[in-house]
Amino acid sequence: MIDFKCDYKKYFPADALSKRIAAMQPLVQKIIDDDFGGWLHLPYEYDKDEFERIKKAAATINSDSDYLVCIGIGGSYLGHRAIIEALGGERGRTKIIYAGNSLSARELESAIARIGDADFSVNVISKSGTTTEPAVAFRTFKNLLIKKYGAEEAAKRIYATTDANKGALHDEASEKGYESFVVPDNVGGRYSVLTAVGLLPMAVAGIDIKKVIDGAEEERRAQSEEANGGKAAQYAILRNLMLERGYDIEVLANFEPSFMYFNEWWKQLFGESEGKDGKGIFPASVIYSTDLHSMGQYMQEGRRALFETFVEIKDDYKGVSVPKSDENLDGLQYLEGRELDEICKIANQATREAHENGGVPIMEVIMPSLNEKSIGALIYFFELSCALSALTLGVNPFNQPGVEAYKTRMFELLGKPGYDK
Ligand code: PA5
Repeated sequence: MIDFKCDYKKYFPADALSKRIAAMQPLVQKIIDDDFGGWLHLPYEYDKDEFERIKKAAATINSDSDYLVCIGIGGSYLGHRAIIEALGGERGRTKIIYAGNSLSARELESAIARIGDADFSVNVISKSGTTTEPAVAFRTFKNLLIKKYGAEEAAKRIYATTDANKGALHDEASEKGYESFVVPDNVGGRYSVLTAVGLLPMAVAGIDIKKVIDGAEEERRAQSEEANGGKAAQYAILRNLMLERGYDIEVLANFEPSFMYFNEWWKQLFGESEGKDGKGIFPASVIYSTDLHSMGQYMQEGRRALFETFVEIKDDYKGVSVPKSDENLDGLQYLEGRELDEICKIANQATREAHENGGVPIMEVIMPSLNEKSIGALIYFFELSCALSALTLGVNPFNQPGVEAYKTRMFELLGKPGYDK
């Protein structure tokens, strides 16, 4: 479903890819054997009973809430926001407010102000159940719920997505009787979008979550059936070859502003999976053509240490075209009647050619169209390629030991018990 293209022979010897393909199968086995490799089989091994409960909970939220406050950070937030926004946002009554992904007082205040007197529910998402940012936001919104609805009704409006057996959030959910969903033990935060972490918010937004999973499953099959190691494996290999050549920044580029949070999800996936032990490609992102008028200059002529991966949508979107006019004061007559999407695709091609001529190696990841299935496939493609790429680099794709450093210092400064200076 997802196509991958790179004219790699322009940059590397013709046999560079084939030489490394054989090394990929043992890496897939390594993921299967890893305690955090559960996401690999999620598209067909997901919990079907929980899936039905998610759909029911979403229907309840749609019937009783103008807003769902989705509380979570990192992998407990970026994936569903990426998919919901890429697919055009919430489709029904319930709008989603994202909270607990920063420590900004202004942001929290404005979320509260946005709710005003409206009806709302809360989906608090934290695998560990102890992360400070979501915990602070949860306490705030829980108090608001209790004030508005009373303790009993408030508890019915809280949906907790967390560990099956442990953690502060798990314990509170059990004690208070919140409806709970599970982040499986063998799936880490940034690989968890196809679990309840992402599925409940997506279902509330009106997205057909079965189609998202089906898309991921089609991609899983396509990747495991391809004789040459799969396109995700090719992308993983070529990224590492780029790095070995000194291209240590990868810029993910696409032409859809609604993919802004997809870019953020991708950066987290690759940044947290690969940036360790003094290694890793630095993941950056742009939205074109907007950023051609800001970052475009650097991309064309700046330091030649970056390569660019374009995410593209193959099919044509028919909608807005350039209107006819009796005058040609703006010089646009030559475009009259042409679809905007066609012009956008030509801008895409022109950008790839110009950047490549300017010394930026180019790769393309191509979705057949933009819908539930293809975005599920795209998620799976990048998850698989990320894990394979990290293993090729020689780092653990599933831990994030470096994230603890700021937390420890923050807790020392805040005087958290057990964190004396
Ligand atoms: O990928 C990860 O594991 C992290 O980004 C986590 O998702 C993030 O730190 C949030 O953790 P938690 O869900 O435990 O609150």
